Amino acid sequence: MTAHLLGIDGMDRAEIEELLDLTDTFAEIGRRPIARVPALRGRTVATLFFEDSTRTRVSFDTAAKRLSADTLNFAAGSSSLSKGESLRDTVDVIASYGVDALVVRHPMAGTPHRIADWTDASVVNAGDGSHEHPTQALLDAYTIRQHRGSLDGMHIGIVGDIRHSRVARSNVLAFSALGAQVTLVAPTTLLPPSLVGWPVRVSQDLDEVLPTLDACYLLRMQSERITEGLIPSLREYVADYGLNATRAARLPTEALICHPGPTNRGVELSAEVAADPRSVILDQVVNGVSVRMAVLFLLLGSGRELLERSESEAGA
Ligand code: ASP
Ligand code: CP
Repeated sequence: MTAHLLGIDGMDRAEIEELLDLTDTFAEIGRRPIARVPALRGRTVATLFFEDSTRTRVSFDTAAKRLSADTLNFAAGSSSLSKGESLRDTVDVIASYGVDALVVRHPMAGTPHRIADWTDASVVNAGDGSHEHPTQALLDAYTIRQHRGSLDGMHIGIVGDIRHSRVARSNVLAFSALGAQVTLVAPTTLLPPSLVGWPVRVSQDLDEVLPTLDACYLLRMQSERITEGLIPSLREYVADYGLNATRAARLPTEALICHPGPTNRGVELSAEVAADPRSVILDQVVNGVSVRMAVLFLLLGSGRELLERSESEAGA
């Protein structure tokens, strides 16, 4: 059966930890002078992005190249979709080039799952609407674990537009599976209509929650998915939920400040907070490559011994 990564939903603690442990191996490979191993030589990884991206698209491409896979990039904006070609035909065309994995981002929730039904390739969800963004959650969990050793018993606040955030959904699942307590901090209009089944606490008072946090995870307002007025004004939102330097002083000295990117300085965080020594935002970006190498290797890899060998030793 073809293996896919469609969401954190369905992954248990042991599976998440296996992936994070494997990520250590790829982080080490990334530090080598020639950061390349022949683990996926002869395989092809395609990125199919129907929505904009910087980090996820570039890091998947880099991850595939470091594993010696061939890569193929499809960007909706410059494709024949504009000539009326359907999603199904587009996927069939890309799949016909002989791809082993399709990394898919789409504005509609569930699209990677549909594509998984249409092809024999492994499908990785790189963000589907406001549903899930599993590799973001894995790299976030990896980054927090890297700094703190474990998420067990941590208190993590996720602050901002939870309602439209696929990152929040995946992170709630991953962080709680790894033993953290999660508090969502947002105005009620930016929370999902129902939180039944979400293993979280909720607060509208960021100032009260901050001193209790081990990590403060900030989210961007997902304006591309907001179709109605959900906050009185951006100024009032920033006054209540923006993390500025004064507010960040309420966080414990050891607390981490995280953000999936892209950041909107002056909204969910100030420029000063982005540069705070407690910010691990750039570490999250760097770890994205290692985590995505681990994901591609677990889905497609054929031999662990290939990880130990450098590309030059393997012989061209
Ligand atoms: N880049 C993340 C996503 O695609 C978060 C964001 O855009 O705010 O979900
Ligand atoms: N964090 C994240 O998914 O960033 P991009 O939208 O730039 O890929």
